[in-house]
Amino acid sequence: MDLVLGFSIFLGIIMGWFWWKWINNKKKKDSRVPKGSLGFPLIGETLDFIICGYSSRPVSFMEKRKSLYGKVFKSHILGRPIIVSTDPYVNKAILQNNGSTFVPYYPKSVTELMGKASILQMNGSTHKRVHGLIGSFLKSPQFKSRLTRVIEKSVLLPMENWKNKNPVYIQEETKKITFEVLVMVLMGIGPGEELEFLRREFAEFIKGLICLPIKLPGTTFYKSLKAKERLVKMVRRIIEEKKLNMERTTTMSESESESEERDRDESGRRPILDVADVFLCDAVESNGMEQQQQQTVDVISENMIEMMIPGEDSVPMLMTFAVKYISDCPLALKQLTEENMELKRQKDSTGEEYDWTDYMSLPFTQDVISETLRMANIINAVWRKALKDVDIKGYLIPKGWCVLASFSSVHLDEENYENPYQFDPWRWQRKEGNLSNSICFTPFGGGQRLCPGFELGRLEISIFLHHLVTRYRWVAEEDYSISFPTVKMKKKLPIIVAPISS
Ligand code: HEM
Repeated sequence: MDLVLGFSIFLGIIMGWFWWKWINNKKKKDSRVPKGSLGFPLIGETLDFIICGYSSRPVSFMEKRKSLYGKVFKSHILGRPIIVSTDPYVNKAILQNNGSTFVPYYPKSVTELMGKASILQMNGSTHKRVHGLIGSFLKSPQFKSRLTRVIEKSVLLPMENWKNKNPVYIQEETKKITFEVLVMVLMGIGPGEELEFLRREFAEFIKGLICLPIKLPGTTFYKSLKAKERLVKMVRRIIEEKKLNMERTTTMSESESESEERDRDESGRRPILDVADVFLCDAVESNGMEQQQQQTVDVISENMIEMMIPGEDSVPMLMTFAVKYISDCPLALKQLTEENMELKRQKDSTGEEYDWTDYMSLPFTQDVISETLRMANIINAVWRKALKDVDIKGYLIPKGWCVLASFSSVHLDEENYENPYQFDPWRWQRKEGNLSNSICFTPFGGGQRLCPGFELGRLEISIFLHHLVTRYRWVAEEDYSISFPTVKMKKKLPIIVAPISS
């Protein structure tokens, strides 16, 4: 019996090896397919990819291959043959594509957990319309003015307690702050039981995004699916309530109460307060409220949860890395503090509220944020799949292959940035080398999928940094980052804080 089993395994390995060789040779036939290695059968070069992700220099996977094969090379990672681009021009061509050639590619666990109508998965004209709706809402000055008060509250309340908390774990604190802002932005939910329910269930849900997609009770994936079901149920109830409210306001007569009247805008409609309102209004305008089906409420509910995925981790990690970098660079911290103290003095003397433009117009603070985005590479790449054979800059990307457009390789390339591993916010004033060239700086992606939350993210961190440096001095404990499966600080960045006496 053992002999038969042993022989079968041996035969399997031999056949696997020949199959792999055959695939490799077939791919080599067209010399325009970028050079590179597909590594070992089945696992390809995944092990090295993961090991580099855990190291202090995650781009070393790209750097090694770039030196052997050039800026665009082929590999085989996470179960797929893939073309990796570290070339800003090729990345730009990939990002600019409108969905007829490249579509987003996510691991199987992610696609299984996301609804078909998720903004992250939709393509073509539907995607363009939905993306435009969200983007213009999040960019609008009225929204940013209103949101500034929400962010200030979410930042200041927990910060008040920091002096009794030493050490303060920045990665955890910023996660709490930004989650609160995110659910307010998406669904208008403030602090309370609903927020805590969302926080708990969402944490369970995202564990399943990067894991083996095995739907058996007890597995991470199964628990994640169940958490998503609970999330959808709760969010659906909130969207139903919003929909009812909207219907009620639309049909309300003019004689109705003054307070309800005050809630309306010039055109007589309730103002749009969050992203769920944007979706609901769009559904009403395109279908008419009467025909609006349960389907719409379901799609909106799923989208609210899925939009939390790109928004949830990115902003707190940006804040955490900014604290890490300025802690390690006293000169930058000094200049940042002086600039923000000056604004605080002005505001204290006039007693005026801050406007979002006050926070966003501090030049050195914005340079610190840009430099953090460049170095931290929170979203270090985007993944796409080619729907047909594509020729970019003489490279052939075969139909069905995945492409990884690596942002971190461009952001940390000395051809584009002098001393790329040095935190140097002053480089943004010098506008050195390729810095003025926007294709070398794409922390928020580009083209039609450019992050619609990019201004919101910048506003949040501007407010956070302002109140941090004008209220506290601190010493950061030694910590380091890991990049796999997502960018994190190993020890959650503990800092010892002391309030600044006024
Ligand atoms: C520092 C903060 C952030 C960074 C670095 C970041 C980065 C990115 C990047 C690189 C993409 C492009 C993905 C692709 O092309 O496949 C993206 C897309 C997206 N981001 Fe952000 N993001 C941030 C904050 C936010 C926030 C706060 C929100 C939520 C309100 C948000 C919502 C989205 C959405 C919905 C998409 C998908 C857009 C689409 O596919 O059309 N992001 N983000």
